[in-house]
Amino acid sequence: MSELNSLTPKQTVQKLDQYIIGQDDAKRSVAIALRNRWRRQQVQPPLREEIAPKNIIMIGPTGVGKTEIARRLANLAQSPFIKVEASKFTEVGYVGRDVESMVRDLLQLAINMVNKEEEKGVTAKAAVAAEERLLDLLLPPRPKQESAKPDTSGLADHAIPLSYNDAFGKETASLPSSTDEAAAKQQTDSVEKTREKLRRMLHSGELDNRTVELSVATPKNQGPIVEIFSASGMEDMQSSLQDAFSKIFPGQKHERKLKVPDALEYLKKEEAQRLVDTESVTEKAIRKTEQAGIIFLDEIDKIASRSGTGSGSPDVSREGVQRDLLPIVEGSTVTTKYGPVRTDHILFIASGAFYTNKPSDLAPELQGRFPIRVNLNPLGQEEFFRILTEPENALIKQYTALMATEGIDLKFEEEAIQEMARIAVEVNKKTENIGARRLHTVIERVLDELSFDATERDERTFVVTSEYVQKQLVDISDNEDLSRYIL
Ligand SMILES: Nc1ncnc2c1ncn2[C@@H]1O[C@H](COP(=O)(O)OP(=O)(O)OP(=O)(O)O)[C@@H](O)[C@H]1O
Ligand SMILES: [Mg+2]
Repeated sequence: MSELNSLTPKQTVQKLDQYIIGQDDAKRSVAIALRNRWRRQQVQPPLREEIAPKNIIMIGPTGVGKTEIARRLANLAQSPFIKVEASKFTEVGYVGRDVESMVRDLLQLAINMVNKEEEKGVTAKAAVAAEERLLDLLLPPRPKQESAKPDTSGLADHAIPLSYNDAFGKETASLPSSTDEAAAKQQTDSVEKTREKLRRMLHSGELDNRTVELSVATPKNQGPIVEIFSASGMEDMQSSLQDAFSKIFPGQKHERKLKVPDALEYLKKEEAQRLVDTESVTEKAIRKTEQAGIIFLDEIDKIASRSGTGSGSPDVSREGVQRDLLPIVEGSTVTTKYGPVRTDHILFIASGAFYTNKPSDLAPELQGRFPIRVNLNPLGQEEFFRILTEPENALIKQYTALMATEGIDLKFEEEAIQEMARIAVEVNKKTENIGARRLHTVIERVLDELSFDATERDERTFVVTSEYVQKQLVDISDNEDLSRYIL
């Protein structure tokens, strides 16, 4: 069974075309790199081990689609994907084994992905269980039963009423006294009736305004703290600390009042989590990381030292990072708290502007692991026009959708879009070339007034003409200092 999406290079390029304009060579190369990994995995050992990974370096100026291509590629291959800045690893404390942290981060991502997938598989079951638990919460407190079994589900530490089978089931019914038996049966019946009535009310939404009290798990501290610690190379200590804490305070919970629909959602999530087998998630996630993972090594040029520049300390640390990277890219085993992860088949996509150096300034061994090279082209007015209009997530489409939420029918004349593209190119020339990122500030500026008063406008249609674009932009784009701040 392969975790890999087996898109052919052609199919990959077609999909990338939906989001990225131009850069055909780069699309082609990443498509090949993706397929090559799949091919290598199909080869039987021992030959497979002889085939070196075919990773890729994308070379090109800022804002022309390098990151975008890699991100979309990961998305359509449904791969765990992380972007790391190679230059980060030159920072003090980063030189050394911490380069491995990117593999740990990738695995964590894969675990989240697999978790979500697995939870999807149990939603139906979880929904049923959640409904029962909610009904337990909604029902008036049941009479005390000596024979009530302890709640073994361990779901919540507050007393969730037991399910009625437990409370009034066989044990009670088989009590010796027949009058007790009859009374108990009557009680069971009436409780059952109430329960079914409540269930109908729940389904018809009649209970939507009711609140229930429920003990919810205190969210575990994730995110920022991990980052702070891992920045100083203590991610292992952090994770073991976290484990230790969760042992001291197992499943910390607090009481919260929730509206019925929210409570149901919460219970569904909790039930889904409970139904998912953590061990198999870990196992699958490790496999997914090893076989489908993509690591995007940004700013690789910043760790390439120019040969013959002496042995200043920055070069030493750059070379150090390259040395640390090598085993990971070549294929080695990284220890994580979930178990060992082999990096042999992880796909690495490196990227850099290489303004002052060249890929050949990287250590020869590293160069060998990145045999696919591709240049991305600077973008001009024609590409900008297409970027504004064509991609699935094109800016024009985004703003039109945003304005529609205000009931405004936003339209752009073609010349207006051309004008925005032209001005973006001009500003890139005059100030700093930030590529397609310029389009974001340009369109934001053009729509500044509309964005401000859209809600109060009487006129429900707004047409952006090229005169309007000029009116909004020309003063600024003509003034170099001004555009430096505003565009
Ligand atoms: N060829 C393109 N087609 C469509 N959108 C693009 C293209 N190039 C850039 N963009 C848009 O511009 C933005 C920046 O692009 P991206 O992040 O890929 O830049 P980059 O090449 O990685 O630059 P840097 O070297 O600064 O990291 C993205 O939001 C992306 O949507
Ligand atoms: Mg980038």
